Amino acid sequence: MDSILVRGNGPLNGVIPIAGAKNACLTLMPATLLSEGPLTLTNAPRLSDIRTMTTLLQSLGAEVSSLQDGKVLAMSSHNLSNLTADYDIVRKMRASFLVLGPMLARAGQAVVSLPGGCAIGARPVDLHLMAMEALGADLELREGYVHAKAPKGLTGAVIEFPFVSVGATENAVMAATLAKGTTVLRRAAREPEIVDLVRCLRKMGAQIEGEGTDTITIEGVDRLTGATHPVVTDRIELGTYMLAPAICGGEVEFLGGRIDLVSAFCEKLDAAGVSVEETERGLKVKRRNGRVSAVDVVTEPFPGFPTDLQAQMMALLCTAEGVSVLEEKIFENRFMHAPELLRMGARIEVHGGQATVTGVEKLRGARVMATDLRASVSLILAALAAEGETVVSRVYHLDRGYERVEEKLGACGALIERVSG
Ligand code: EPZ
Repeated sequence: MDSILVRGNGPLNGVIPIAGAKNACLTLMPATLLSEGPLTLTNAPRLSDIRTMTTLLQSLGAEVSSLQDGKVLAMSSHNLSNLTADYDIVRKMRASFLVLGPMLARAGQAVVSLPGGCAIGARPVDLHLMAMEALGADLELREGYVHAKAPKGLTGAVIEFPFVSVGATENAVMAATLAKGTTVLRRAAREPEIVDLVRCLRKMGAQIEGEGTDTITIEGVDRLTGATHPVVTDRIELGTYMLAPAICGGEVEFLGGRIDLVSAFCEKLDAAGVSVEETERGLKVKRRNGRVSAVDVVTEPFPGFPTDLQAQMMALLCTAEGVSVLEEKIFENRFMHAPELLRMGARIEVHGGQATVTGVEKLRGARVMATDLRASVSLILAALAAEGETVVSRVYHLDRGYERVEEKLGACGALIERVSG
């Protein structure tokens, strides 16, 4: 298992290109199952999760070609030769569950392994199943798989989610595109990745209104065509790297950065003393003073502060002047980076869904372990600002969501290298 070695090296200066969004690509790819026409995605990120989704779609009979060094995904699913999404793939990546809605809508049946939990929480899929049943599917849970049938096709329905779920909204939107009649999703997720999915589905001939609001209306159509669609910028990769000059000092420009994708996050950066300026090519970030100030953070569904940036923000606040309180309201176990940051000299007290961080002048390098995708990059950020050397192990977590992290940070002056082992 590879590790990443980082030596604190002062301010960072330079340019970082931001890739296409992992979490948009992971819902755009299953959309190919909805149509016999070719679906081509450009600006695709080069990540292990994308390779996992590719393997899954190919196992169902879809053709997926990775072109231009992985930045273009040319897909088509003339005939779905296999309607079972196998446990061995689904357990590795929960987003695999997003093939349920498209398969059910296209083929009238689907057998999909339940994804099981993951490090950050139990992450049930009951809202996905509720939506499929509301659209007329018969579901049976057997031996860890969901057996879904809709032999006469799906029928539009009004679906009121009890709370916001990104994945359940995505599964329901995709399934409803081919249902008979009208579907209305209430308390739908508003994430930019869903807006991107709807824009792609609309190019494929879907009739959808309301994306980006909490009510999405879908008029079912008989069939969808192919399309070509650019994956939206990754707001979580963007926010993650924006914290590098914030924690180290210096000034970095982020190519492709869009302030509308990270507005709640930028409000917190501003309150902490970090300025964000829009440029022709994206966003430019630098600290206003020598040390950032403590701020309180509560994670919420979009447009609130994203849970996927909580771990990274905690790394910054470990070096802030003052005491910050972070409240994680989306997942029940998303503070696993805290014990690792403590090893670097941070002062953090976790009680349930709340972490209280007392900032310190300097963190110290240490051997630490990545526990999940966003925790791993939180440790990299802390290491950039720490005195001495940090070794982050189990970086396979990192490779799921960040392409070439050592190149991107190294280009701005960070002393960071991958150690195979
Ligand atoms: C998506 O996960 C993202 N993943 C996550 O990013 C992100 O943290 C999350 O949305 C919230 O923004 C992808 O897009 C591939 P949810 P998802 O359904 O769809 C509970 C990353 O780091 N819930 O909005 O699984 C659930 O347990 C990943 O890139 C149910 O109880 O998230 C959680 O507590 C991590 N029943 C909350 O709702 C359900 O049926 C929000 O989950 C579904 C969800």
